[in-house]
Amino acid sequence: MRSRLRSLRLAGLVFLALALSACQLIAPDVEDAPLNSLDPQGPFARQIDSLFWPVFWIAAGIFVFVQLAIIVAVFLFRDRPGRKEPKQIHGNAKLEVIWTVIPALILATIAVPTVRTVFDLTECAPDSMRIEVIAHQWWFEFRYSNIEGMPAGAEIETANTMVIPADEEVCAVLQSEDVVHNFWVPKLHGKRYLVPGQENLLRLQADEPGTYYAHCAEFCGLSHSLMRAQVEAVPREEFEAWIARQLQPAAIPDEGTPAWDGLQVFQSAGCVQCHTVDFEDNDQNIPDNIIPREAFNGPNLTHFADQYRTHFAGAVLPEHGEDFETALKRWLADPPSVKPGSYMPDLGLTEADIDNLIAWLRTLE
Ligand code: CUA
Repeated sequence: MRSRLRSLRLAGLVFLALALSACQLIAPDVEDAPLNSLDPQGPFARQIDSLFWPVFWIAAGIFVFVQLAIIVAVFLFRDRPGRKEPKQIHGNAKLEVIWTVIPALILATIAVPTVRTVFDLTECAPDSMRIEVIAHQWWFEFRYSNIEGMPAGAEIETANTMVIPADEEVCAVLQSEDVVHNFWVPKLHGKRYLVPGQENLLRLQADEPGTYYAHCAEFCGLSHSLMRAQVEAVPREEFEAWIARQLQPAAIPDEGTPAWDGLQVFQSAGCVQCHTVDFEDNDQNIPDNIIPREAFNGPNLTHFADQYRTHFAGAVLPEHGEDFETALKRWLADPPSVKPGSYMPDLGLTEADIDNLIAWLRTLE
């Protein structure tokens, strides 16, 4: 009896620990629970939050009421020697009606704000800035075009980091290049699918400038758990300055420098089969990319060293507390060892190749 109690208690503790760790309340090395969906930081997340809590408390109240009623019934009507069978109420029409109508009324009451919120969150405001979010196995791509300050036909592509102006509605246009993914920025909105051949919309808005973490929320293959992103909300003027910087092509490094050698590695080792760098007009005949980018698309690296692009490889590197350069070395040496199934292969680069590549990548601001 005692040992059964002890194992029950142990099971309870294990369950509690698992439940709490899922909420990220007890992960000391994770700053400020970055994926906490109970900490809304924008109007759309708040809309969901203000629907969640009343529904939660109604459900909690019903749960407590039903459990108490069961306990009371078990206690009051328990079998005792000499006791007659209690009055049977099976098929009592009045009771049947009561316990059908009350839940129906509760559900109808909850349905009104639920349906209103769902429809409200489906359509973006017509004048909101549209940013394309394209999911790949296993990283998020963000494309900007037709944005104030951008010349017609110009396009900006970033990976892992979505830069948005703070305190403005942004309409994320969700698509997928391969399988079904799910874009989830818990502090700014709920989850929404990215489906191949379909466009879904997601309204995003952050009250304050800051970094808001995102994660793929649909199992999408081997490295699903390593498919992250960050939304960088910045003041309006910084957003405009960022757009202006992103429109600049990459400069060609001076010959004879490590960065020049790194560019040669980039051109010859196979990187250009997937990655694009938009170079300035150059007389060295360095092509932007040798294969049409539609053929196979890896992240555009023109602004790899941008100040907001603080993470790479699906935003899983650098790991918490790891230095950027150490992480980059680890990644270039053997990508699939970091992200199982990664389409970026181990290219067999030498240590010198990697050092030069990093020297060049660092120039891509
Ligand atoms: Cu993409 Cu999971």
